[in-house]
Amino acid sequence: MKHQDIIDKMTLEEKAAFLSGDSEWTTRAFPRLGIPSIFLSDGPHGLRKQAGTGDHLGLNASLPATCFPTAATIANSWDQDLGEKLGETLGEEAMAQGVHVLLGPGLNNKRSPLCGRNFEYFSEDPYLSGKMAAAYVRGIQKKGVYACAKHFAVNSQEIRRMAMDAVVDERTLREIYLTGFEIAVKEGGVKTVMSAYNEVNGTYANENKHLLQEILRDEWGFDGFVVTDWGASNDHALGVAAGSTLEMPAPGLGSARELIAAVKSGKIKEEDVDTRVEELLDAVLTLTENAKASTGYFDAEIHHAVAKRAAVESAVLLKNEGAILPLKPGTRVALIGDFAFEPRYQGAGSSLVNPTKVESMSELIGACDLQVVGRCRGYLRNGKEDAAMIKEAADLAAKAEVVLYCFGLNEDSESEGLDRTHMRIPQNQIDLLQELGQVTSNLVGIISAGSAIEMPWHHFFKALFHCYLNGQAGAGAILDLLTGKENPSGKLSETIPRRHEDTPAWRYYPGRERTSEYREGLYVGYRYYDTAGVPVLYPFGFGLSYTRFAYSDLTVTKEGVSFTLKNTGDREGAEVAQLYVSLPGAKVFRPEKELKGFIKVHLRPGEEKRVEIPFDDKTFRYFNVKTGRFEIEEGEYLIRVGGSSADLPLTQKFGKEGTTDILPYEGCQKELAVYYTGQIAAVPDESFEKLLGHPIPDGKWSGRLGMNDAFCQMYYAKSALARLLYRKLKKMWDKAGEKGIPDLTILFIFNMPFRGLAKLTGGAVSMEMAEGFVKMVNGHFFTGAGKVIGGFFRNRRKNRQYEKLLAREAKTR
Ligand code: BGC
Repeated sequence: MKHQDIIDKMTLEEKAAFLSGDSEWTTRAFPRLGIPSIFLSDGPHGLRKQAGTGDHLGLNASLPATCFPTAATIANSWDQDLGEKLGETLGEEAMAQGVHVLLGPGLNNKRSPLCGRNFEYFSEDPYLSGKMAAAYVRGIQKKGVYACAKHFAVNSQEIRRMAMDAVVDERTLREIYLTGFEIAVKEGGVKTVMSAYNEVNGTYANENKHLLQEILRDEWGFDGFVVTDWGASNDHALGVAAGSTLEMPAPGLGSARELIAAVKSGKIKEEDVDTRVEELLDAVLTLTENAKASTGYFDAEIHHAVAKRAAVESAVLLKNEGAILPLKPGTRVALIGDFAFEPRYQGAGSSLVNPTKVESMSELIGACDLQVVGRCRGYLRNGKEDAAMIKEAADLAAKAEVVLYCFGLNEDSESEGLDRTHMRIPQNQIDLLQELGQVTSNLVGIISAGSAIEMPWHHFFKALFHCYLNGQAGAGAILDLLTGKENPSGKLSETIPRRHEDTPAWRYYPGRERTSEYREGLYVGYRYYDTAGVPVLYPFGFGLSYTRFAYSDLTVTKEGVSFTLKNTGDREGAEVAQLYVSLPGAKVFRPEKELKGFIKVHLRPGEEKRVEIPFDDKTFRYFNVKTGRFEIEEGEYLIRVGGSSADLPLTQKFGKEGTTDILPYEGCQKELAVYYTGQIAAVPDESFEKLLGHPIPDGKWSGRLGMNDAFCQMYYAKSALARLLYRKLKKMWDKAGEKGIPDLTILFIFNMPFRGLAKLTGGAVSMEMAEGFVKMVNGHFFTGAGKVIGGFFRNRRKNRQYEKLLAREAKTR
C-alpha cells in the first residue's frame, strides 16, 4: 500500500473513526499522523457550500455560486466539450471555496418521467448519460477537485428511497443502470462514487459486494473511494467489507464502534479496514496538496457567461410552424407568464444553489430589437385560478403580433424527496393557454420543467421551446434564441411521450411496497416506444434548428462510420448526428435500436463536412447472463445514422462475428415472449421470474416493523402511539403539499427508515436507541423505552470513552 507507513501508525480506533464523517460535510483529521480533514459539497449544477449549519436537504443557505443548467438540460446539448467546460468551471468554484470533493454528477438512468430528481440526471439512455458524466468528471478533476458519480446504483425513485429494494435482472442492471457509471469510471476516471440509498436485489447498494467490489473495482478498475449517500449506511461493517469507504454525514462514533466490534468478532477482516483507510488516505493527501493551488477566487461574470452559453446549447426547439421563429426585428410581442418574471431555473433539494445572480426575461427583453407591448404574470405560481389575471393576459395578447408564453412545472412538482404522480402541468396554466389561443394564433411557448411533461395542448403553439431548468443565465439565452442571435441546436435526451400511461414503467413505478420490480427490463425510454411501436409526441434525440442539415454517403468499416453532413440552409448552425445499432431477428432479444455514438457538428451555411463516429466496446455488445460477461451476437447488424431516433436517413448492414456459442434464453423464448416483442406494459409473473432467474421476492408490507422500514409505514404499527404519530406526520405531509413549495424535512422524515434516527443525528441517537424505538412502535413500549433510555446513557458513556481514547492517542505519539 502507498501509505502503509501511516496506516502502520494508526490504531484500530483511529482507522475506524477515519471511515465516517466528522460533520455534515467533513472527514476527520488526525494531526498527529499528518492527516487533515477534507470538505465535500453538493452539487451537480453549481456549488452548495454551506459555511454555517449544514444539512443535506438544501434547507440552510450556502455561499453564492454560479447556478448552471441542471444535468437534464445539459444532456440536451449532446456536447461533451461543453460538459467538460462546465466541469472545469465547477471545479474552479469548488477550488475557490475550499471544496475538495464535488458531489456530482448524478447519472441515474431515467426509468420513469415521474422521478422527482430527473432534473438532476442526464438521460433515459445510459450511453448519453455516461458520455456527458465522463465529460463533467474530466473537467472537474482537471482542476484538482474530485468529482463523485452518484447514486450508485438503480436509484430510480424518491418515494421511500432509503427503504426500497430495486428488483432488477442482471442484464438490465448491466446494460441500462450501470453502463453510464462504467463510462464515467473508465472514460472519466472518476475518483469517488456515491453509493445509493436503496437496496439492489435484496442487499443495500452500500453493502453490495457485487456492485462495489466485483463490478466497480474488479471489472472497471475504479481506484478511488466510495462514499455513502447521506444516511445510506445500514451496517457500516458490512459496507466496509463490501467496498464502501466513507460513511457520511456524521454518525458520531457509533459506526466506528460497530466497525471495531466487527473486526474483533471476526465478522470482517482488519485488512478490509486497511484497504478502505488507504483509499481515503490517498484522496485526503492528494486533495489537500491540490488545494494549495487555490487562489480563493473565481470570476462570477465569466462563469455567468459560461452558464448562458450552456443554456443556449441545451434549449430544444420542438416546433416552429411557418418559421415564426426567429422573431423579426421590431415584432410587437407580449410577454406573458409568471416564469418570465421569476424564472424556474433549478430544482429543489440537496442540489439547490444560491446563485450569484438570476436574470429574468422580463428584465432583459427591453434590450432586444422587439417592440414589447406589455408584460404580465398571467397565472399564479401556486396553481390557483385567477380570472382577473387571465383577462389581463388575454387583453394584452390581443394587442401583440406574437405572444411569448412562459410556463411549465412549478417548484412543488419536482424535487428531491418526492416523485410526481402524473405528468401534467398545473391546470391554471393550461386554462390561460386556452384563453390565449382564443385571441391569437401566434403563440410561442417557452417551457421550464426539469423533465418530460404531457403536452396535449401543444397544438396551440406555432413554436415551442423546451428549456428544461436552464440556470441563472437562462433568460438571456432564451431571448437570444427567440430573436435569432443564436440558432437552437439542442436535442431531446429523453422522449416526450403522448401520455403518462404510454410510459414503460407506468404499471410498476413507483414501487409502493418494500420492493420496486423492474419488470420492463431493458425497455426504458425510446428502447420501449420503438420496439413496441408506441407512438410518441417528440422522439428521443429530436430537436429543430433555424437551418437544415442533409446526411449522405455513409461508409461503415470495422472502425466505425463516416458520412457527409451538409448545412443546406442559410444560417450557421450545429447538428447532433446520432448513430444507432439494431440487430433484426436477434436470437438474444434486444431493443429495436440503441444509441451507440453521437457528435455535435458546427457548420456554416452551405458548408459540408465528412464526419466520423467511431465504434467502441459498447457498439455491439449485450450482457450474457450465461457467460457472465458482455458478448457479441453474430449477425447482420443495421447501422443507422441521422438527426433523431425517429429520423435516420442513412442505413447500412454490417456483419459481425459472435464471441460465444453459449446463448442465454435458449428454450425459454415462450416465457420471455414479452421481452422479444417489447410488449412489456403488463409483464406476467412467469416472464419476470424467468428474466430474473429466481422467484420474485415478496415485497408486501406487513407484520412487525424493522429498522429498515420507513416512518410512513407506521400506519399499521402495533402501537397506538406510533399510529397517532403517523397520523400527525401524514397531516404535516398533506399540509406541506398544499403550500406549493415542497417541505423537504417532512418529505425526508416520512420516507426515512428508523435506522436513520441513528445515522443522521450526529451521534446523539445510537443504533441501540433506534432499535428501542422500533420495539416501541411494535407494541413493546416498556422494553423499547428501556432500550432508548438505557441506550442514551450507554451511548454517551461510550462516545466519551472513545473521544478520550482518540485524544490520548493524539497526545502520546
Ligand atoms: C442526496 C445526495 C447529496 C447528499 C448530500 C442526499 O440526500 O441524495 O445526492 O449529495 O444528500 O447533500
